[in-house]
Amino acid sequence: MIGYTSEAPRLPVYVTSEDVLRHCLIVGTTGSGKTRLAMKLSRKLRQYGTVLVLDWYGEYLDVGDRVVSVGTEEPVLVPIEDALDAVSLLEEVLDLTSPQSYLLTKILRRPKDLEIVTDLLDAYEPEARWEIETRASLARKVSLLLKYGKIFRVVHPDEIHRVGEMFKDKLTVFNLSPLKTVELKRLAALGVLKAVKYLKEKKVVDGNEYVVVEEAHNVMARSKLLQRYLAEVRKLGIGLIVVTQSPAGLSYEVMNNTNVKIVKTLKSAEDIASISKSMNLDGKLASLLNKLRYDEAIVEAPSIPEPVLVELESE
Ligand SMILES: Nc1ncnc2c1ncn2[C@@H]1O[C@H](COP(=O)(O)OP(=O)(O)O)[C@@H](O)[C@H]1O
Ligand SMILES: [Mg+2]
Repeated sequence: MIGYTSEAPRLPVYVTSEDVLRHCLIVGTTGSGKTRLAMKLSRKLRQYGTVLVLDWYGEYLDVGDRVVSVGTEEPVLVPIEDALDAVSLLEEVLDLTSPQSYLLTKILRRPKDLEIVTDLLDAYEPEARWEIETRASLARKVSLLLKYGKIFRVVHPDEIHRVGEMFKDKLTVFNLSPLKTVELKRLAALGVLKAVKYLKEKKVVDGNEYVVVEEAHNVMARSKLLQRYLAEVRKLGIGLIVVTQSPAGLSYEVMNNTNVKIVKTLKSAEDIASISKSMNLDGKLASLLNKLRYDEAIVEAPSIPEPVLVELESE
């Protein structure tokens, strides 16, 4: 139970763990209480499965049964099947142009090459004029990743049981805050997401898995990736809790692929318009969006026929 409808009759509003397996979106402006709410949900979901938190700012350290300090203590183990897989990971993380992706495809021959991509780039002899400039720009982007030491390790699918270690505790927090750049954090976060999906596909882990993606607009800057991931993992028993401040950046498909929506207060007119439209809010609810209190949210969930104002349960 997440709270009560604010108008009489004050009915309890439920979100089931099954609902969350078909994904949950938490949106609201910075400081509106999204993280606090996501923390509360994480603690509840822990009773129904395994919870992983991609903790962008290091705010969940107290709620984790285990905290993995990515980059300082442990590298993220990223299962990568083939070279193309490695290319597509870097494409996402570094927002590569087509020529950059193409060049990378030529350079990366095996998954492990990802760990030495700077050396391979250095050693590469351009074969055409355009490759000279592309190599230089690619090297600049890649250097963003490797400056700060080992934050990931490519694991062969045969060693997958090691990645399965991620699930040994009920609530694991991946602390991304020590990582210094957005690209590094994104790489670590996408690595974990990739690993979770892989483990479920190969049936290394069973049961329900919930992943809290904090600051999702940073993790999956390209809405297409988020969209694809949401669609792919819902069949696998992985529920994402997508936390973001920028609803205007979310595509129609993302809105459509999240079963539960919890909207905290929003300030920008663009965000208000976008959420009102995509959730089909009536004028009254829409007019409340810029003045919701900490303990209020507009909620859409399978248990209620249409979005309502909910007074959230206090802790
Ligand atoms: N329900 C609440 N009651 C009182 N204070 C809250 C509540 N939710 C959040 N806060 C406070 O508001 C601030 C921002 O909350 P946070 O969850 O970090 O917001 P966001 O993740 O949306 O930026 C924090 O200092 C937090 O303690
Ligand atoms: Mg937050």
